[in-house]
Amino acid sequence: SATTSPRHFLDLRDFSPEIIRQIIDLSAKVKAMQNGRRQPLHPDRPLEGRTLGLILAQPSTRTRVSFEVGMGQLGGSVSVLSPGDMQLGRGETVADTARVLSRFLDVIVLRTGNDANLRELAKWSSVPVINGLTPVSHPIQILADVLTFEEHRGPIRGKTLAWIGDGNNVATSLMEGAALLGFNVRLATPERFAPNPDAVAWARTHGATIEVFHDPAEAVAGADAVLTDTWVSMGDKDRETRLKVFQPYQVDTALMAKAAPDALFLHCLPAHIGEEVTPEVFEGQTSVVFDEAENRLHTQKGLLLWALGKENS
Ligand code: CP
Ligand code: NVA
Repeated sequence: SATTSPRHFLDLRDFSPEIIRQIIDLSAKVKAMQNGRRQPLHPDRPLEGRTLGLILAQPSTRTRVSFEVGMGQLGGSVSVLSPGDMQLGRGETVADTARVLSRFLDVIVLRTGNDANLRELAKWSSVPVINGLTPVSHPIQILADVLTFEEHRGPIRGKTLAWIGDGNNVATSLMEGAALLGFNVRLATPERFAPNPDAVAWARTHGATIEVFHDPAEAVAGADAVLTDTWVSMGDKDRETRLKVFQPYQVDTALMAKAAPDALFLHCLPAHIGEEVTPEVFEGQTSVVFDEAENRLHTQKGLLLWALGKENS
């Protein structure tokens, strides 16, 4: 059995700023190595013979395809698993599943509707476990968001990012990222969908400037980037209420005009055009949403290299 603890990636708050910066820089390096090629097979195939298990308890387009393609480009392979097809779906425990999968796999990504399952999997797994999104957090998304911001606007330290809409899983990871990387976050949410108070407190005590508003105009004032996300996340049951409550939080050209000139627009996707964002903003000059989606591939390649101890590849 393992003597050193596996390099889990559960939440940004578990890391030092140096490690997160190292993973982002490694991602940029691996991205540059592709040299414009469409199928950038890493020349050294650093993850040859390694297998990633991707357990998806909920739908995914970006997370699934970027991990599958990224692992392949690094020379490794992937097994995509769905709890419904596993004994997990018939009551085998997460603890036993973790111990069995650890004997086959080299790294596991889990997307789950139950955050406790992620913690339990990591507790019992002897191979690295990566958070592929839970209702509580979505840390891999923020790696891609930071790389995207920096490619377009330079170092993110000292910059201000506005988050408009739901104080959800992505907002939580954004605030944790702010503490680690030294950017500021200004959020505007309806009262009842406020950002996770524990994440706000954690980010503040770890040096981040986090400001919480209800008025979107206040949050975007002078911001270097404006971010939003769906009003109805996976697992949310109150769609009708949400569509009503979030109406004043739509990101439109008038709102973007209150941010800094040339403020970037980011969205983790999938987007619901006409709900959280208008077509003009989504398709606009400063929207970088598809660069952001592509960067899921590059940042997860960096993350996989780090998790498997190949950060010097
Ligand atoms: N942004 C994101 O995680 O997308 P998927 O749900 O398609 O993986
Ligand atoms: N907040 C969204 C993000 C999807 C990538 C959700 O949890 O469904």
